[in-house]
Amino acid sequence: MTSSALTPAQRVHAERNLPRYTSYPTALAFDAQQASEAHAWIAGTNPADKLSVYVHVPFCRRLCWYCGCHTSIAHTYERVGTFFETLTREVDLVAARLGEHDGLAHLHFGGGSPNALSPEDFAALVTQLKAAFRPRPGAEIAAELDPGMLSEAFVDAAGDVGVNRVSLGVQTFDPTVQALVNRIQPYDHVARATERLRKVGVAGLNFDLMYGLPGQNPENVYESARLAVQLRPDRVAVFGYAHVPWMKKHQTMIREADLADLDGRWAQAEAADAALVEAGYVRIGLDHYALPEDAISRALAEGRLRRNFQGYTDDPAPVLVPIGPSSIGQFREGFVGNHVPTDQWSAAVARGELPLNRALAVDDEDRVRAAVIERLMCDMRVDVAAICRDHGFAENHLAESLAATDALQLAGLCERNGAVVSIPEPARRLMRVVAAAFDARLPQAATRHAKAV
Ligand SMILES: C[S@@+](CC[C@H](N)C(=O)[O-])C[C@H]1O[C@@H](n2cnc3c(N)ncnc32)[C@H](O)[C@@H]1O
Ligand code: SF4
Repeated sequence: MTSSALTPAQRVHAERNLPRYTSYPTALAFDAQQASEAHAWIAGTNPADKLSVYVHVPFCRRLCWYCGCHTSIAHTYERVGTFFETLTREVDLVAARLGEHDGLAHLHFGGGSPNALSPEDFAALVTQLKAAFRPRPGAEIAAELDPGMLSEAFVDAAGDVGVNRVSLGVQTFDPTVQALVNRIQPYDHVARATERLRKVGVAGLNFDLMYGLPGQNPENVYESARLAVQLRPDRVAVFGYAHVPWMKKHQTMIREADLADLDGRWAQAEAADAALVEAGYVRIGLDHYALPEDAISRALAEGRLRRNFQGYTDDPAPVLVPIGPSSIGQFREGFVGNHVPTDQWSAAVARGELPLNRALAVDDEDRVRAAVIERLMCDMRVDVAAICRDHGFAENHLAESLAATDALQLAGLCERNGAVVSIPEPARRLMRVVAAAFDARLPQAATRHAKAV
């Protein structure tokens, strides 16, 4: 296991609170006043638009103390069942109002844990969504599932309705760390879930791993990643624990004394990276890895890698339809967000309204900056002048942002050659800092994001 340490110049930047740039502008810029405009965007999709649909299931069967997701614990099925009924009404509402389109390219279930739904309800939901949005041949149907609470009946139902990609939250295989975060999940359990998913035809498999959790160190992070790759998922994401107990009360169950400092976190991330690269995985953007033959590795090699709310993807769909509380969507004219609290979301659906409560229209200035940021986050290299030209601006339109990268070059975070900015491999994990140089909206939003490492 080899690793490089954080340099003093990098450390200053690693402390910054920055967005993850799964979109630009980021969701913090959305506002309530623009929500009414978004109805026309939804109705105005065009026949050439391929669809992506994101469905958020805000329930889990257990509460992991590190969790930063929008979820709550369903102690009985009653609440989940009521939620399911509302979700089916929302699907009908959205399908009735959406304009023409060219079919569904990508259906993604996130959460929470979509396997908090019963196998029957999940299968009925997928069937309804397929009827409503017409999957294209080869469409991806993906779900994020909690392997610790994954029944064989759920796996079988997922296979039957055509789920072809699953992301399992693995996080760590270390039993001491698992106990410290209230998530007991033995290796054999994950191995059995993996085997059964493959048996029912789920060909695409992603594992989420984490570093920076209480009790983690480079050795046990390396060992967890080594065990994970023995199961040969085609993709792995490695997330740094974001500790925000003032926003997520249950994180107060985690003792700060058990958390590594910045240098420790960096060493843990390096350890996961070493295990994955040694096992033949290709680095994808900020925090993803994939086998060389996987579709996102090929997309990276061919300059087609995209970044969206679900992370890295080869999905080129220009329209993302949001379903479920807190879901975020994207249309040509801008972004939309559903109500976050489940009761407000369900009250809107009960009134027969689309449950949107915030939106953001984007203009050409946003689009050109978004394109530069996306190329940096995907390719670690961007020709800023070419992107300005392609968007109808003068080649020097973003000269001020380009000049701002010079200070970052001195810190070793990027290299600039005229209007071409590239990020050297040792600074990969700090790519958000370079992207932020092109973010015109950052100053007012900066403190609400997690640290850059
Ligand atoms: C919706 S969950 C995945 C599915 C399922 N709920 C599970 O936990 O297995 C999404 C992922 O977010 C990551 N995550 C959750 N809380 C986090 C936090 N506070 N900081 C960083 N990553 C976090 C975890 O890796 C988790 O697998
Ligand atoms: S990590 Fe996953 S299973 Fe755990 S509480 Fe969060 S969303 Fe639920």
